Amino acid sequence: MSFGTGKIWMNGSLVNWGDAKIHIGSHVVHYGSAVFEGARCYDTPRGTACFRLDTHMTRLFDSAKIYRMEPAYSKADLHNAVLETIRANQYKACYIRPIVYRGYHTLGVNPLPVPVDAAILLWEWGAYLGEDCLTNGVDVRVSSWARAAANTFPTLAKTSSNYANSALIKMEAITEGYSEGIALDTAGYISEGSGQNLFLVRNNIVYTPPVTASILPGITRDSVMTLAKDLGFTVREEMLPREMLYIADEAFFVGTAVEVTPIRSVDKMQIGNGRRGPITEALQQAFFDVINGRIEDKHGWLEYVYEGEPRRAAAAGARTARA
Ligand SMILES: Cc1ncc(COP(=O)(O)O)c(C=O)c1O
Repeated sequence: MSFGTGKIWMNGSLVNWGDAKIHIGSHVVHYGSAVFEGARCYDTPRGTACFRLDTHMTRLFDSAKIYRMEPAYSKADLHNAVLETIRANQYKACYIRPIVYRGYHTLGVNPLPVPVDAAILLWEWGAYLGEDCLTNGVDVRVSSWARAAANTFPTLAKTSSNYANSALIKMEAITEGYSEGIALDTAGYISEGSGQNLFLVRNNIVYTPPVTASILPGITRDSVMTLAKDLGFTVREEMLPREMLYIADEAFFVGTAVEVTPIRSVDKMQIGNGRRGPITEALQQAFFDVINGRIEDKHGWLEYVYEGEPRRAAAAGARTARA
């Protein structure tokens, strides 16, 4: 099924896509008062498996807490609702978008009296920047827009309002012929893309900006750091000056949507040899092997969706399946 079809979970009920409506006077429409997630499930040889859904749900509830939102559903309820919605739509693989938002009550700026509603949408979503980019890489520019300064819009929250900034970065990039923009923070250090985190490689060391560089703490970023360490690479989370982009041997984006996508040029300067670098390829391979269930799930990241499939890979350090 594609975007625009199937069932959507709304406040506890499954409704047809076309009926999943909210009022124009809803607080979220006017003030961007929503927090959301973007996760995926994959079609693996052992069945349909969600990738780190529990971690996504934790981030959703962290985001809600930062914005003083108390969802009417517990984390476990929403987690189960995601699984139920995948089953109801009979997806084998899909993108998963849970959203918690301020609904319809009053249109004062104060969100506190406004009900906190929730919905879960699913759709099929292939390679975000195009299949070809996974191999050949993308051309990007440093954005003229900075990421939000500390103590302005909290970037640890995945809130709809933060995507106004992402939209500016993305529109500028595509209008000027690039696939993506890389934003700096307001101090001029490298932050992230409009909807993805960034890694650089120089002299075989893997670098990524820390959470203090106005980034969303990506779950793919965390997974790639873990896989890089598993493969024996040194990983450094540190503030990176803009010019590190230009002298990097390799650069790549990571995120639920882009997965692991190489960057072949920044500001029309070639990165490395202008093709996917060997460390990028190794990490991309490791990531795709895990999400597609081709290797042992030793971190317990996969959660199978349908009856008769394993609930969760039994592995050292893996959390046990939820009841
Ligand atoms: C601004 C931003 N940074 C980073 C990411 C990557 O996060 P994740 O790997 O959890 O999808 C996203 C993805 O939604 C994003 O929107």
